Amino acid sequence: MTAQLNPRGDVAVLIPAAGAGVRLGPGGPKALRLLAGEPLLVHAVRRVAAASSVGLIVIAAPPAEVDAVRELLAAIAPVTVVAGGAERQHSVAAALAVVPAEIDIVLVHDAARALTPATLVDEVAAAVRGGLPAVIPALPVVDTVKEVGPDEVVLGTVDRSALRGVQTPQGFRHAVLAAAHSAGLDSHTDDAGMVEKAGVLVTCVPGSELAMKITRPLDLIVAEALLRLV
Ligand code: CTP
Ligand code: MG
Repeated sequence: MTAQLNPRGDVAVLIPAAGAGVRLGPGGPKALRLLAGEPLLVHAVRRVAAASSVGLIVIAAPPAEVDAVRELLAAIAPVTVVAGGAERQHSVAAALAVVPAEIDIVLVHDAARALTPATLVDEVAAAVRGGLPAVIPALPVVDTVKEVGPDEVVLGTVDRSALRGVQTPQGFRHAVLAAAHSAGLDSHTDDAGMVEKAGVLVTCVPGSELAMKITRPLDLIVAEALLRLV
C-alpha cells in the first residue's frame, strides 16, 4: 500500500473529485469550493480518513489541480492523488488503476458528499467484508414520483415503496469493480450501475442524510447548517 492510514485498514477508498461543478454555478472545480472556509474535498477526506477500515485513499483531482490537491491534503491525511478524466467514470477508472492487487475491498465516494460520516464508510466496508459483492447506501424516496410522457403528461404514479435514492460510498469486491470498468463503456451516474449491468448482485444498506450530495447552491447552505449539528 502506498500511503498507510489506519494500522488495520485494508480498504481502498477512491474519491472522484475532478468535476467542474457546473450546477453549483460559476467558480472553480466543485471539490475545491469552500464550505465553512474549507474545500469540500478537505471535509470529505477528513471523514473518510477517520474510518477505521480505510487503509488507502486515492483522489482523482482536476488534471490542472493535481499538485495543488496534493499540497492541500498533505496536512489532512496520507493520500494518493491522480488526474481525473472528462467523465466521472473515467476519474474512477484512473483512481482504480493505482490500487494494489492485494486490496480486496474498494469503495467509491463522491467528494461532493463532503459530510458523509466515517461510520457509513465502515458500514459499507463491513457489508462487503461480510460477503456481498456490491453494497450501496440508500434512503427511501420521500416525494411521490410520476412517470411522464411528451408535453409533461402523466403516464402513471410509480410505487414509491420500491424506490431508493442512492448515495456513496459504494463498496465492491475489487475484482467486481475492476471487471465492470474494463467491460463497460456506457455512461453511468454511479458505479453500482456498471456492476448491475454486469449481472452482479447489488444490495442496499441504510444511507445517511449527512451523505447528501452538494449539487446546487441551496445544497451548500444546507450543508453549512448540517455542519453546525455534527
Ligand atoms: N467527478 C469526477 N470527474 C468528472 C466528473 C465528476 O471526478 N469528470 C466527481 C465530482 O468531482 C464529484 C462526483 O464525481 O465529486 C459526483 O459528480 P457531480 O456531483 O456531478 O459533480 P460535478 O460533475 O463536479 O458537478 P456538475 O455535474 O454540476 O458539473
Ligand atoms: Mg457531474
